[in-house]
Amino acid sequence: TKAVTIPTLNAHRAAGEKITMLTCYDASFASLMDRCGVEMLLIGDSLGMVCNGHQSTLPVTVAEVAYHTAAVARGTKSALIVADLPFGAYGTPETAYANAVQLMQAGAHMVKLEGGAWLADTVRFLTERAIPVCAHLGLTPQSVHQLGGYKVQGKTTESAELLKSDALKMQAAGASVLVLEAIPSQLGKEVTELLAIPTIGIGAGPDCSGQVLVMHDLLGVFPGRKARFVKNFMDGQTSIDAAIAAYVAAVKDGSFPALEHCF
Ligand code: KIV
Ligand code: NA
Repeated sequence: TKAVTIPTLNAHRAAGEKITMLTCYDASFASLMDRCGVEMLLIGDSLGMVCNGHQSTLPVTVAEVAYHTAAVARGTKSALIVADLPFGAYGTPETAYANAVQLMQAGAHMVKLEGGAWLADTVRFLTERAIPVCAHLGLTPQSVHQLGGYKVQGKTTESAELLKSDALKMQAAGASVLVLEAIPSQLGKEVTELLAIPTIGIGAGPDCSGQVLVMHDLLGVFPGRKARFVKNFMDGQTSIDAAIAAYVAAVKDGSFPALEHCF
């Protein structure tokens, strides 16, 4: 199978074909997801919670993300690999660059970072130096203590307008993809229509260019509180392969996310 690249994602967006993305943290699941046609694999800093049992993503280090990225890269043939820059790893453009190089050398094809306008210079610094960037707006878990919990974002007119302006700034700075987390479906739709780059939603409604879920949520193995946008794709399936395939099919045919998963 052909490698998924940024032009592949843009072609999907142009054709109205939904993009499939899942988090992944090891080689065996990477191989399985790759075989099932998951187009983007994210080594999310969610690994701190789902793999290591932390209460938030804040304790995650660049070395940890790099370790899991290398494992995922070894298991993958086609998928585009995105690695999270963790909390504290991108306070300045130079720090971001040094840490992003670590993740790219571990096997990532793109790095992801959380935040809006304040990151524009950093995104430009990285993309000018051949590091593709995925931006992340809405509920940004690294800001949990500033947000006062894991809450839906962009519910007021002001915050929705700010999110749209941040999205445009990330695109103008060179971001290739934008993840939108926990925002009203209407805002997810508006941001997707506003931008020329693909959007990937998690709790951002059915109109984003693609969808992402944390693999432990999709398989129903995460013991924590289940967010509204989560669906356990193991329900009614007898194998992990079948659950992943069902997720891919449901994103492609638009049946996931359903109304019950949206804000
Ligand atoms: O770390 C992660 O898993 C993420 C996704 C929820 C987008 O950032
Ligand atoms: Na993350």
